[in-house]
Amino acid sequence: MTFNYQSGELQVRGHKISDIAAEYGTPVIIYDETYMTGMMQKYHSVLKRHNLPYSVSYASKAFSSVQMIKLLEEQKMELDVVSIGELYTALAAGFPVEDIHFHGNNKTPEELQYALQHGVRFFIIDGLDEIELIDSLADDDVNVLIRINPSVEVNTHDYISTGQEDSKFGLSLSNGAAKRAIDNINASKYLHFKGIHYHLGSQLDDSAPFINAVTNVYSWLDEHNIDIEILNMGGGYGVRYTEEDVRFPIEEGFNAIIGHLKEVVSASGRELPHVMIEPGRSIAAEAAITVYEVGTIKDIPGVAKYVSIDGGMSDHIRTPLYGAEYEVVPVKDANEDADEVSTHVVGKLCESGDIIGKNKMLPGNLQRGDLLAVKTTGAYHYSMASNYNQMRKPAVVFVGENGVRQVIKRQSLEQLIENDVR
Ligand code: LLP
Repeated sequence: MTFNYQSGELQVRGHKISDIAAEYGTPVIIYDETYMTGMMQKYHSVLKRHNLPYSVSYASKAFSSVQMIKLLEEQKMELDVVSIGELYTALAAGFPVEDIHFHGNNKTPEELQYALQHGVRFFIIDGLDEIELIDSLADDDVNVLIRINPSVEVNTHDYISTGQEDSKFGLSLSNGAAKRAIDNINASKYLHFKGIHYHLGSQLDDSAPFINAVTNVYSWLDEHNIDIEILNMGGGYGVRYTEEDVRFPIEEGFNAIIGHLKEVVSASGRELPHVMIEPGRSIAAEAAITVYEVGTIKDIPGVAKYVSIDGGMSDHIRTPLYGAEYEVVPVKDANEDADEVSTHVVGKLCESGDIIGKNKMLPGNLQRGDLLAVKTTGAYHYSMASNYNQMRKPAVVFVGENGVRQVIKRQSLEQLIENDVR
């Protein structure tokens, strides 16, 4: 594993975590760059093996920054954006605009105009009115996919489950909305229908829902006699936050999904589509840890032990929001005679729900100034960070073949009020 102990100290690829924390301060999010490039290469090699046109598109919402985008470009990834801000970041990093796809259930006219002007490769239509809107703003051909709702139930947190019928996302296959969208696109002046997109949900641990989606989509395409060039299956491939979690089995999973796709496509006498996938979490999550410094410790006899760290829900919202569980470990391995005690690790923000983890087994002799690491924080942490309580967003560091480099500086106090009218 990427982060492990050597001589009693947590390290990443030969660099001591305590040294990185000393240099960049805490809280700091530390990424193993090689883990991420390894995951990107894995998706490429798994899909390449199936001999079909494909592309792997990273969902920037998981973690986006200029240096991350450069890494993606080096690895021949395409990119999904869902806002003008994500698009701006990608363009600022020099990412080729023809490899960018624009998603979102409510793209504003400002966003659409900006994306059209810059020549984004295609838009994923997620609403009937969006068709008219894009057509009215465009003055040249625009390629589009439609985001459909394949009516597949998945086993994940309700907030991150998206492919079911009752959802703000997607156009229904069963109630006619998806068909109407294609008819409207075909009748429009500038839009060209290229294919279908769906995203079933996030943190999925097996291929069954993806297989069901292929079945549902192709029976619908057959029923309506619709041809597609692109089939975009979205992201959602699960990772391991704790020992109980099961990672999505990338190799076997895609063998099963693509195998099924090939059967279905040949049964309906079609050509294989260009297959597109959009992993976010599985590329970034397990690549990083967040390192905090311990502050106040409260041992309430017979009740609980609280250890407070110097960040909290401003940089770690997934536990308060989804009840997500994480592994929390000391950066210096406990000496052998220190007993582990059940500990609530909490943030420093003014809310009781500001919890990083309850009942974590941690050394009983933790002290102010010690460092704790929360694992698997590479996705949906920095990107979901806020300035609640005027907390500054943390620094982000990449550790790669060329050593340790800061990729995002810690926010400054001045930046907290830079937009305030004084
Ligand atoms: N494609 C689309 C259209 C999506 O909506 C998403 C995620 C992805 C790809 C990437 O999914 P991934 O491979 O990362 O699972 N904040 C939540 C996750 C929300 C995901 C929303 N869409 C969390 O922290 O769990």
